[in-house]
Amino acid sequence: MSNFAAMKIIDNCPLYGRNTFGMDVQANCLAEWSSPEELKTLLNSVERPLLMIGGGSNLLFTGNYKGTILHSTIDTIQVVNETADSVLVSVGAGVVWDDFVAYAVLHGWWGVENLSAIPGEVGASAVQNIGAYGVEAKDVIETVQTVCLNDGSDREFSNRECRYAYRQSIFKNELKGQYAVTYVQFRLSLKAQPKLGYGALQAQVSRIGEPTLENIRKAVMEIRAGKLPDPKVLGNAGSFFMNPVIQASQFEELKREYPDIPSYPAPDGMVKVPAGWLIEQAGWKGRSLGPAAVYDKQALVLVNKGGAAGSDIIRLADTIMGDVKKKFGINLTTEVNYI
Ligand code: EPU
Repeated sequence: MSNFAAMKIIDNCPLYGRNTFGMDVQANCLAEWSSPEELKTLLNSVERPLLMIGGGSNLLFTGNYKGTILHSTIDTIQVVNETADSVLVSVGAGVVWDDFVAYAVLHGWWGVENLSAIPGEVGASAVQNIGAYGVEAKDVIETVQTVCLNDGSDREFSNRECRYAYRQSIFKNELKGQYAVTYVQFRLSLKAQPKLGYGALQAQVSRIGEPTLENIRKAVMEIRAGKLPDPKVLGNAGSFFMNPVIQASQFEELKREYPDIPSYPAPDGMVKVPAGWLIEQAGWKGRSLGPAAVYDKQALVLVNKGGAAGSDIIRLADTIMGDVKKKFGINLTTEVNYI
């Protein structure tokens, strides 16, 4: 290990504690940077290929990483400006997402409380467009500051330029692997704006009390704890699949055969169907295949029962995708990135 300023470079770095699936693999090199300048210095010297990681909560390592993993440790939260209604906050890519949510709630800033307890870090939130309980990161992101991994130049993306959609952004598509997020600027409201439209949220908040920031955060955490496994206890990466978006005509056909099929409206007249429901109907909820399993309280989550390799999880995922395709004619796509 060598230290240069706050920069940390570790050769043959074990990744076990750096991915929530608990894959026991290693990287040729892991480099941590605490400022855009440090990242630029690193880019001149480290072994390629490069992989940016945050909390490792949305990826599945299929083997050792033969290159350099870059991890930001920028951990600042700073107010950029404040109006009568809102505050613009710049948050470092390395801030733990839920620490930022807790900070916002403590300061009376509205907008991210529904996203409480999502694992991962702020940089990744802007790449994945994380979402839960009727809110997505894109609803509050104003700009994303980045460094180009090819030439070390700075580039700021407006919300529009990020081309956000359900679990999608330009950073996962056209510009995949080309930019490292350094800071994300969020516009949060100083006026109460409770978003309680998601099924069980209103009821859960009412049980606790008034729809305050604290109570919404508490309610979201309670709902999550009832459905989603804690990665510290059971390796997982949250939703393994995306909810598929299908044509309205295909949905109508399915609804005739399965009148209880849940759905949500999607852009352009399309229909979003919960993958968890499809997987449960296909008989996979709570079932195992070797050391990999489908979580028994939420079929969208695949778990490592202990000692699973990436290939075990992929075997289970492929089997599920095949069965869902056979039963419903729907192709599931993974939300988790295979590395
Ligand atoms: N459902 C089942 N069986 C299951 C799971 C779900 O029938 O095993 C049905 C539920 O009854 C409900 C519907 O599917 O009618 C939706 O379930 P839920 O509200 O639990 O949400 P989801 O669509 O399965 C999405 C996100 C979650 C997020 C929740 C809440 C994706 C891929 N996942 O799940 O995000 O927490 O909504 O907003 O969009 C994540 O990304 O890691 C994640 C957990």
